[in-house]
Amino acid sequence: MAIIKVQKGTKDILPQEMTVWHLMEEKAKEIFEKYGAKEIRTPIFEATELFARGVGDTTDIVNKEMYTFEKSDRSLTLRPENTAGVVRSFIENGMHRLSAPVKLWYKGPMFRYERPQAGRQRQFHQVGVEVFGIKQPTADAEVILMAVNYLKSLGLNDLTVELNSLGCPKCREEFKTRLKDVIRPYLAQLCEDCQSRFEKNPLRLLDCKSTECQEIYSKPEIQAVIQGDFICEECAEHFNELKSYLDILGIKYERNKLLVRGLDYYNRTVFEIKSNNLGSQNAVCGGGRYDSLVKNLGGEDTPAIGFAMGMERLASLLGEKQEKKMTAYVISNNTVEAMKLTEELRSKNVTCEFDLANKKFVKQLEKASKVAKYAVILGEDELSQDKVTVKNMETGIQETIKRNELKL
Ligand code: HAM
Repeated sequence: MAIIKVQKGTKDILPQEMTVWHLMEEKAKEIFEKYGAKEIRTPIFEATELFARGVGDTTDIVNKEMYTFEKSDRSLTLRPENTAGVVRSFIENGMHRLSAPVKLWYKGPMFRYERPQAGRQRQFHQVGVEVFGIKQPTADAEVILMAVNYLKSLGLNDLTVELNSLGCPKCREEFKTRLKDVIRPYLAQLCEDCQSRFEKNPLRLLDCKSTECQEIYSKPEIQAVIQGDFICEECAEHFNELKSYLDILGIKYERNKLLVRGLDYYNRTVFEIKSNNLGSQNAVCGGGRYDSLVKNLGGEDTPAIGFAMGMERLASLLGEKQEKKMTAYVISNNTVEAMKLTEELRSKNVTCEFDLANKKFVKQLEKASKVAKYAVILGEDELSQDKVTVKNMETGIQETIKRNELKL
C-alpha cells in the first residue's frame, strides 16, 4: 500500500532533535521572564479579518500565503504570525487596564503557504515577545536586548542586528511620494510583484529580490532618495535615543535603510537579526514598533513593539546536540524485582528503564551502556543480600551497596 507522506513544507520534529527544541523553549521562558514577560497562548486559527486588518491586505502574507477555510459560514485562517492574535487577546481581555508595560511572550506553530526552500516552510515555529504601553525608545532598546540575550543564551553570538526607522505615517507618506516619483520612469521594467506594489505598498519595492529591479533601484537618483534621511524630527529623535541606548548597552547594530519588513503594521523602529550561515533565508528574528495596531483592531490607543524568531532557523544554527542519556538502566534476570526497583527509582525522580523483553543479562548490559549513565544491577547475590551493584557506564567503575543507600 502507498505510504502517506508528510506534507510539502512541513516536517516532523523527531525525538533526536528534541534536545535542541527543549533548549530553545526553556531558554525562552528563562530569559523572557527575567525581563518580566508572561507567557500567552492564543488559538492557532482566528477570524480571517484579523489578519487582513492586522497584518495588512497589501502584504504577501495576506494576499498569497494564508491558509483560509470556511466553517459555518465563517472565514477562518491558520495564523501566519502571532502579533495580530496577541493584540486581539490584549484588547479582548482588557489588558490595557493593567499597569504598563504589559510584556507577553509566546511560542508555537505558524502557517504560511510559501514556496518551500531551505529555511522556509509552510508550517514553522516562532518564539516571540510583544511589549505594550510604552512609547519611549527605552522599550525598543529593551525588546532588542531581550532578543539578543535570548540568542546569546543559546550560544549564538555572531549574528548581525540590522536596524531602521520607517518613520511615522506622516513622514512615510512624503517618502513614498518621493520614491514613486524617482522610480516611475522605470515602472515598465520592474518585475510583476514590484509593478503591483508600486501603488499599493511602494516601501516593499526596496526589498525585492530580483536582480533586475535591484539594478534599477541602485541608480543614483533613486539611491539619493533611499539613502537620504526622510524621517521627521520627532521620529529622528526617537531613533537617535534608541541608538544611544544600544551603544550604552554594548549592542552592535548596522543601519540598513532598505529594511522595510513584510508586514504593514510597523512604524518607526524595525529590526532584523541575521546570520551569515543560513543562505538566502538568513533572518532568524524580525520585529519592530506597531503603535497603531491596537487602535486599528478596535482597542484603546496603545503603543507597542515586539519581535518573533523562527525556531527552525535557530535549530539549524544550533546543529545536532547529543541526546541526553537517561540516568539509570536496571538489569536483572528477575523481571518483577527489576520492575519494582525501576518504579522506586522513578518515584525518586530518577529517569530510568528496565528490559521489557526479558533479554539475556549480557544484552541488558549492552543496552545500558548505550542509553544510561548508570547500570543498576540486581543479580542473584544482590537480591539475596538486599543489595545493588551500581556501574558507572562512562568510567566502568562499579560498587555494591545496600539497596536502601542507593542514590543517583
Ligand atoms: P516575520 O519577519 O514575518 O515577523 O517572522 C519572524 C521570523 O519568523 C523570521 O525572521 C523567520 O526567522 C521566521 N519565519 C518567517 N517565515 C518563515 C517560514 N516560512 N519558514 C521558516 N521560518 C519563518 C513576524 O512574524 C512578526 N509577527 C514579528 C513581530 C512581532 N513584529 C512585532 N512583533
